[in-house]
Amino acid sequence: MPVILAIESSCDETSASVCADGAILSNVIANQTIHEAYGGVVPELASRVHQQNIVPAVQQALAKAKVSKNDIDAVAFTRGPGLLGSLLVGVSFAKAFALAKQIPLIEINHMQAHILAHFIAEKKPSFPFLCLTVSGGHTQIVLVKDYFDMEIVGQTLDDAAGEAMDKTSKILGLPYPGGPLIDKYARQGNPAAYHFPEPQIPGYDFSFSGLKTSILYFIRDNVAQNPDFIQQHLPDICASVEKRIATILLNKLQKAANAYGIKDVALAGGVSANTGLRLALQEMAEKNGWNSFIPKMEYCTDNAAMIAIAGYHKYLKGEFVGQDVAPMARMAF
Ligand code: KG4
Ligand code: ZN
Repeated sequence: MPVILAIESSCDETSASVCADGAILSNVIANQTIHEAYGGVVPELASRVHQQNIVPAVQQALAKAKVSKNDIDAVAFTRGPGLLGSLLVGVSFAKAFALAKQIPLIEINHMQAHILAHFIAEKKPSFPFLCLTVSGGHTQIVLVKDYFDMEIVGQTLDDAAGEAMDKTSKILGLPYPGGPLIDKYARQGNPAAYHFPEPQIPGYDFSFSGLKTSILYFIRDNVAQNPDFIQQHLPDICASVEKRIATILLNKLQKAANAYGIKDVALAGGVSANTGLRLALQEMAEKNGWNSFIPKMEYCTDNAAMIAIAGYHKYLKGEFVGQDVAPMARMAF
């Protein structure tokens, strides 16, 4: 019954989790509020805050799990992709812990971990399945053949879906991160109020830069005529943007599911916390006779529980790395 300590520090959340035999015992997430003033994550500040948060986050994760440092059998950590300085804090901590306790180290790809978060829940997808992974930095349709055998069949050519959410919220004068706020206002708005174009990109790839420009011009033109346009129509604007982002994502997912003959379809990454997207996927799944899988909210945005479950499956395979391992800002599957 391996007990694994997992560390996640790829962006602006410092997170630690303990899992025993594949069951998550704790998942502590320290958020960084320092970036709000800057409208986006400032990498240099992020790594400094990780340094302050990492030890208390691990202590809390151990305490909540009711295990001691000596009970840990292996340390799993996010090697990449992510911000190099942020990753460095988590990787260094994991290496030091493993060295001190003479236990193995397990490297995890952050994007694979978002997908493997589905194996925390009791209801698990069966291989092969398709996963739409949507975060602040990535938008991918992944054909998941096994735990660590994954193929990206479509991805964004420019902005990620989360970036489209965050940039829209910036245009609307909302603070960072904007995704959750767009979600909040969209619940009170009419998604058919405004029309934004759907980009025509071949295959299963995505593009969000044209949408961003059309939102920018739409707001600029309307504000020129009515300076209070945003305040008066915020819910309708958010609902219409959210709806378009969801349809761009799900139309491609449908196309891929049809082409690959897949019935198990999953959603992962920070944007999978979005209410409109979750509902739209459920609707599409019912229509197509798919089994849909959406992680619990706390496992959608960045968290160490997903690193722990991925670490558990690598532990079972005996895949460990040495003390010479270094973080990777860009990291392929
Ligand atoms: O996976 P994640 O936590 O971090 C990255 O690895 O990027 O994803 C963060 C992204 C941000 O762009 C944030 O605005 C978006 O997820 N997000 C949401 C919601 N919650 C987080 N977007 C829309 N609706 C939400 N409820
Ligand atoms: Zn992420």
